Amino acid sequence: MPGELIRVEKEIGEGSFSTVYLAREKSREMREVALKVCLKKHIVKNRMVIYVQREKEALAILSREENKHPGIIGIYCTFQDAESLYFVLSYAKYGDLWNLMRKQPNKRFTVKDAQYYSANLLSALAHIHKHGIIHRDVKTENLLVQEDGRILLSDFGSSKFLKDYETQPPVSDKNQNTEEERPGRARRASFTGTAQFCTPELLEGQRTDPATDIWAFGVVIYNFLTGILPFEDISEYLIFRRVQAVLYDFPEDFPDENAKDLVERVLVKKQEDRLTSEQLMAHKFFESIDFEKLQEMEPPNIF
Ligand code: ADE
Repeated sequence: MPGELIRVEKEIGEGSFSTVYLAREKSREMREVALKVCLKKHIVKNRMVIYVQREKEALAILSREENKHPGIIGIYCTFQDAESLYFVLSYAKYGDLWNLMRKQPNKRFTVKDAQYYSANLLSALAHIHKHGIIHRDVKTENLLVQEDGRILLSDFGSSKFLKDYETQPPVSDKNQNTEEERPGRARRASFTGTAQFCTPELLEGQRTDPATDIWAFGVVIYNFLTGILPFEDISEYLIFRRVQAVLYDFPEDFPDENAKDLVERVLVKKQEDRLTSEQLMAHKFFESIDFEKLQEMEPPNIF
């Protein structure tokens, strides 16, 4: 956005392909926004154009008045200049949930807080799936916390539209379309942290569907309640081997039997055997949650 309309205040985050700044929109009483800046030459050189387009398209769809959901990051506008592409996004004051979790006693969430955050994530996932969008990079770091304590699902750069999937055959030739079907791999060198949330189907170049996000949802709940990750090893290669074999276990002090049951029904190799979002909402772990009234719940005070 031209400098006269937006004032950049400070850098708040850096990824491999973008830098995020806190900025203020002069035209809207200096509303706080996050300004994500992607260097064009970097994007083109690393063949990231498709990811930037996807993010823009997905967020544009989800920001339409009729498609809005309170748990999904909002996009106000995009613009560009000779060097960069800019996304003006809703600002999440407390940063990402991974960093907040690390600051909690025992470096994990209580069962109650984990229920709150995972219920909100599940609601957001059910919503995007209903609109034909799969996120494909669901992870604790992609949950941002706003000033009021509510979370936003962010980073739609790996997302995929179900409609365009339906018009394409599943990928059988391993050399075909692999970058398209395997964002975790294609981006492996540059996006840290994704390997642990990757699914067997992403690794094997098979079709992805909403169940891909549901797997990652299971990894997120495990992470919330233990502070660690179910699939962890000394190299990405070994992590991928564990994911493919669904090789993980629960620490002895795993705090909740219902959560354990839920995770076991989600970290399942075959997509069709995983619980769906509707089944998850009815799971015992969410017994105390009224999904119709999530917005009325008081967010955890973890700051
Ligand atoms: N880091 C990345 N995106 C962000 C956002 N929208 N708000 C705050 N921090 C961020």
